[in-house]
Amino acid sequence: MKKYKIGIIGATGMVGQRFISLMTEHPWFDVTVLAASARSAGQKYGDLVAGRWAMAAPVPERVKGITVKNAADDAESIAAQVDFVFSAVDMKKEEIKELEEAYARAECPVVSNNSAHRWTDDVPMVIPEINPEHLAIIETQRKRLGTKRGFIAVKSNCSIQSYVPALHPLRGFGIKRVLACTYQAISGAGKTFETWPEMADNVIPLIGGEEEKSEQEPLKVWGTVAGGKIQKAASPAITTQCIRVPVSDGHMAAVFASFDKKPSIDEIKERWASFSGRAQELNLPSAPKRFLHYFEEENRPQTRLDRMSEGGMAVSIGRLREDTQYDYKFVCLSHNTLRGAAGGAVLLAELLCAEGYIQSK
Ligand SMILES: NC(=O)c1ccc[n+]([C@@H]2O[C@H](COP(=O)([O-])OP(=O)(O)OC[C@H]3O[C@@H](n4cnc5c(N)ncnc54)[C@H](OP(=O)(O)O)[C@@H]3O)[C@@H](O)[C@H]2O)c1
Repeated sequence: MKKYKIGIIGATGMVGQRFISLMTEHPWFDVTVLAASARSAGQKYGDLVAGRWAMAAPVPERVKGITVKNAADDAESIAAQVDFVFSAVDMKKEEIKELEEAYARAECPVVSNNSAHRWTDDVPMVIPEINPEHLAIIETQRKRLGTKRGFIAVKSNCSIQSYVPALHPLRGFGIKRVLACTYQAISGAGKTFETWPEMADNVIPLIGGEEEKSEQEPLKVWGTVAGGKIQKAASPAITTQCIRVPVSDGHMAAVFASFDKKPSIDEIKERWASFSGRAQELNLPSAPKRFLHYFEEENRPQTRLDRMSEGGMAVSIGRLREDTQYDYKFVCLSHNTLRGAAGGAVLLAELLCAEGYIQSK
């Protein structure tokens, strides 16, 4: 099979590094271009990430010698060389919007890890197992941009990927109210314990902007495509508290939920056990065989034991029980830089290729 040529914009950062690690053995995608800021442009990738490489496996040999391009100034030439780009830049929101649109207008699809376009009406925000039908909005977006190939698709925030997958199969019971408290890893801030020593033996009760994203983004993911935009779902009512904890990788969520038609514990477990989505149906290379893993053991899921479930792409759930204020409570765990960031974006790109939205040139 001919591989898709890909570019990574923001390749030197934490998420960019994760994209590179995931591409090393990817059966469909081949890293062709790496780009970052003007500070990095013109230098060899291996030199740029020396002392900054945060992945467990070493820097792949085949990318070490690639000369990094300037993501903004070289956009047109990068767009011409690749079939699509992954975007993981840390810039001001308006700058990211502009940069990603420049690639899309240059007929280069953009699969973005950034939040900048998550609320653009005609940009789909997709978790492949949950709302693959939102990709239909791409045709509307292409009309607005005046493109044939180019468009932007985004993944959701990492925090919601711990609890939205567990709630999704229960929507048939009419989810009324949700309270989710997330305990989020430091890699979500692009940090390690070496670069953020203040996090050792510490908990920080604020992650800027995270609670609003965690409460609002599920409503777009559960929304419907109508009238040339994605219309937000009207329910459930969601409230969250998002807390930074001294963990390298893995976001945990303590979830409380009430339903219109309260299911039994067995019915909930059965919905979780039997759930599979479009990613599994299409047997996409990065899709977990089983998206949701329920643990009967009372002390699971645990971050260190379970975050790498199915290559960090599955969501682990445990401790389902009745609550005194809500119908039920339970705990969920997902890997924030795999399922929640680069892995989720790679799975989205696979879906876009499999569904014909991205074609190799
Ligand atoms: N870490 C996570 O788990 C996570 C999860 C979800 C979403 N995100 C989001 O993903 C994005 C990247 O996060 P990160 O943790 O990887 O950040 P990071 O480690 O700080 O890396 C930022 C990247 O952006 C590049 N960059 C900065 N300014 C630029 C500019 N003006 N033009 C082009 N490239 C520029 C940097 O290049 P230089 O090396 O040249 O400066 C670097 O490659 C952020 O928007 C973040 O909010 C992160």
